[in-house]
Amino acid sequence: MTVACAPGKIILVGEHAVVYGRPAVAVPVSQVRAEATVEDAEEGQGVIIAAADLGLTLSLMQREPDRAPHPLEVTVTGVLEHLGLSTEENLTITVKSTVPIARGLGSGAAVSTAVTRAVAQHFSVELTSEEVSGLVYEVERLHHGTPSGIDNTVIAYERPVYFIRGERLETFQVGRALSLVIGDTGVSSPTREVVGAVRQAWQRARERYEDLFDRVGAIAVDVRQAMESGDLGTVGLMMDENHRLLQEMDVSSPLLDSLVDVAKRRGALGAKLSGAGRGGNMIALVSAETRDGVQRALASAGAQCVIHTEVLPETGPTLCLASSSAPAKTDDGMI
Ligand code: PMV
Repeated sequence: MTVACAPGKIILVGEHAVVYGRPAVAVPVSQVRAEATVEDAEEGQGVIIAAADLGLTLSLMQREPDRAPHPLEVTVTGVLEHLGLSTEENLTITVKSTVPIARGLGSGAAVSTAVTRAVAQHFSVELTSEEVSGLVYEVERLHHGTPSGIDNTVIAYERPVYFIRGERLETFQVGRALSLVIGDTGVSSPTREVVGAVRQAWQRARERYEDLFDRVGAIAVDVRQAMESGDLGTVGLMMDENHRLLQEMDVSSPLLDSLVDVAKRRGALGAKLSGAGRGGNMIALVSAETRDGVQRALASAGAQCVIHTEVLPETGPTLCLASSSAPAKTDDGMI
């Protein structure tokens, strides 16, 4: 039996502007994880993938030909082919995840990464993070059209990523641990819709939006530098400034603004919405002293779910932590 894990991710700064060619920074969220277990099965079974949290059991051999393959099936086929193995191997793959689904935390890429690693390790192959990231990108591409590549990179490397669309992604290390609290508004806000609304606004007021994007891009450059040198005060100030610019882009919401305010009043070094906005998550940079207060204040101010995570110096793919509770499930069983 072989077990492998992968973290979630969150965008630290640069969302929306990144769609227009400016840089963004994303970090792994190691406190939530996807876990995959691979076991040999009896002759003739083929590959069975069991994802109880999603209410899914998939059989590679018995897939109805008119049904589009599930991302988990594409993941397993991709890694077996990459290893030069048959897709008719006899394996039972069990998938569990505590990464909240469809909340901008990269749950799909996390599950694919855990499965890819577990299958390879089961056949005694240790894939590089680059290989894993590339395989997961192919799965993301099939299911999300033209993904930026940020999710598979930050999750496979389990390191902060500095990213410019269409350019090679750069991973980097933080000089000092970053302690982040993530507060979920509980409001679902499809990324595609918010990105579309920003595009319309940009078409109406190109100069103003280009200027906003430039200012966000400059923040991403400064934040990377400040993270590398361990200057958390600057990271916090830049997060605050990024939130103001996102408000100007009209992608915040009263609930996001009030959670950001609450976190700041409780002593967070910086706070902002994260991801597409208008719902979804906000993040706050905290210290050991302010962490508990910020977490409690966010929960009482209406956050549906509050996660704490740390981005540590010298990170990289880690061994599985003990897995915990099941994630939320979407109606369509997607990851
Ligand atoms: O919430 P997420 O992780 O889907 O982030 C969306 C980030 C955007 O910049 C708004 C869109 C994108 O494709 O980069």
